[in-house]
Amino acid sequence: MDKKKYSITVAGGGSTFTPGIVLMLLENMNRFPIQAIKFYDNDAERQEIVAKACEIYLKENAPEVEFSYSTNPEEAFTNIDFVLAHIRVGKYAMREKDEKIPLKYGVVGQETCGPGGIAYGMRSIGGVIEILDYMEKYSPNAWMLNYSNPAAIVAEATRILRPNSKILNICDMPIDLEEKMANMCSLKSRKEMQVSYYGLNHFGWWSKIYDKNGKDLMPEIKKHMASNGFADALADTNQHVDESWKHTFQKARDVFAVDPSTIPNTYLKYYLFPDYVVETSNPEYTRANEVIDGREKHVFGICKNIIEKGTSKEGGFEADAHATYIVDLASAIAENTQERFLLIVPNEGAIENFDRTAMVEIPCIVGSNGYERICQGNIPQFQKGLMEQQVSVEKLTVQAWIEGSYQKLWQALTLSRIVPSARIAKLILDDLIEANKDYWPTLK
Ligand code: NAD
Ligand code: G6P
Ligand code: MN
Repeated sequence: MDKKKYSITVAGGGSTFTPGIVLMLLENMNRFPIQAIKFYDNDAERQEIVAKACEIYLKENAPEVEFSYSTNPEEAFTNIDFVLAHIRVGKYAMREKDEKIPLKYGVVGQETCGPGGIAYGMRSIGGVIEILDYMEKYSPNAWMLNYSNPAAIVAEATRILRPNSKILNICDMPIDLEEKMANMCSLKSRKEMQVSYYGLNHFGWWSKIYDKNGKDLMPEIKKHMASNGFADALADTNQHVDESWKHTFQKARDVFAVDPSTIPNTYLKYYLFPDYVVETSNPEYTRANEVIDGREKHVFGICKNIIEKGTSKEGGFEADAHATYIVDLASAIAENTQERFLLIVPNEGAIENFDRTAMVEIPCIVGSNGYERICQGNIPQFQKGLMEQQVSVEKLTVQAWIEGSYQKLWQALTLSRIVPSARIAKLILDDLIEANKDYWPTLK
C-alpha cells in the first residue's frame, strides 16, 4: 500500500520563514510525503509575492505537490491534515512599536519579553484563535503546530479558550541551542542528546543532558558556557546569524554564571540583565529594523527575482534546515513515532512544585494520540521564583484580553520584572494602547 500523503496549510503564507519551511518540507518528503501545500494569509499582496515564487519553485522541483494560496479560510483550511502557523499580527510595523515604546521609558524593548511581548500577545491571541477555529470548522481532524509568538501567551490563551483543540505550541530556540551544545560535545546532531528541561517559553533551563550511552555531557557544556556562552559553538544554520544574535549567544555566559548548575535559555538575558540590554539598545534602531533591512529585504528580494525571471533555477531559497523539528513533530503525530520533543503544555504536575495550570516548556513524548509529559520533579527556588512571577504576567495578559480589563493589563506590566514601577508600567501601557488601537480589544 502506498504511504499516506499529507496536506498542509501554512498560515502566515507571507512570512519570511515560509520559503524555508517549504524547502524543508520538500527535503523530507521521503519520510513525510506531501499531497498538497496551501498558503493562507490575511494580507493578499504580501502573501502573493512569497506564493508566486514558491509556486515556481514547486513546479520546478516537486511538480507532484499540489499548491494553492488564498485569503479565503474555506479554501485554505479544507481537506488538510496539518496547519503550520507562523503569523505575526500587526507585522513588523507593530513589532517596531513594541520594541521602541518601552525603550522610551528606559525599559527593555523586545519582541516576546516584557511590555513588547505583552503588547504582541494582546494582538496575537485573536489571530491564532481565529486560525484554530477555521481549521476545526473545515478540517476537524487536523492538528495545528503553532509557533506564532509570543508562544507563552498564545499557549495560555488556547489552554483557556480552546482546551480541547488539537494544537501543539512550540519554539525553535531550544533546538538551535541544543545544536550548539551538541557541537560543544563534538556530536553530529542534537538528536544524539537526551535532555531534561523546564521553564516557560523563552524562560527555561536545561537541568540534565546525556549522550545516547548515558554519559553526562553537562561538565563539557558548562566549560564552554563559562568561557564563551553559546558563542564558540555556533551551529551551521541560516537563522540567528546576525551580529545581535552573536552578542546574545555570548551574553549567555553571564546568564549561566547566575546559576551554573543549569544551562539557561538565551532569552533569560532580558530578565536577568535588563540594564545591560537597555544600555546596549539603540532606541532609534531595534531588532525590528534589523529584520526589515535584513531578512525581510533578503527573502522578498529573492521572491521578486524568481517571479521576474520565471524560474528558481538561479537559486536563492535556502531550506530552513534546523526547522526539520517541525517535520519530526508532524511525523510523530502522523506515524505515531513516540519521539521526544520540548513542547509548551499545561503543567499538570510535571514540574511538581509549580502551578498545575501553568503552560510550561518541558520534554514530552509525542504520538498519534497527542503528547505525554515527562516529569521534571521539583525545581530550585531561584527558577521557581522567577517563573512564578513571569507566569503571572502571562496569565494576567490573557485575562486582560478575555475580560477587556485595563486593570489586569496594568498589573501584568507592573509584575514584569523588567518594568521598574507601576508608574512606568502605566506610562508604557497608555502608549501601547494608543499604538495598538486597531488590534487590541477595548480595555475598560
Ligand atoms: P512576517 O511578518 O514576515 O510574517 C507573518 C505573516 O503573518 C505576514 O505575512 C502577515 O500578513 C501574516 N498575518 C498577520 N496576521 C494574520 C492573521 N490574523 N491571519 C493570517 N495571517 C496573518 O513575520 P516573521 O518574522 O516571518 O515571523 C512569523 C511568525 O513566526 C512570528 O510570530 C514570529 O514570532 C514567529 N516565529 C516563531 C518562532 C518560534 O520559535 N516559536 C521562530 C521564528 C519565528
Ligand atoms: C528565536 C525564537 C523565536 C523568535 C525568533 C526571533 O528563533 O525562538 O521565537 O521569533 O528567534 O528572531 P528574529 O530574527 O525575528 O529577531
Ligand atoms: Mn521561540
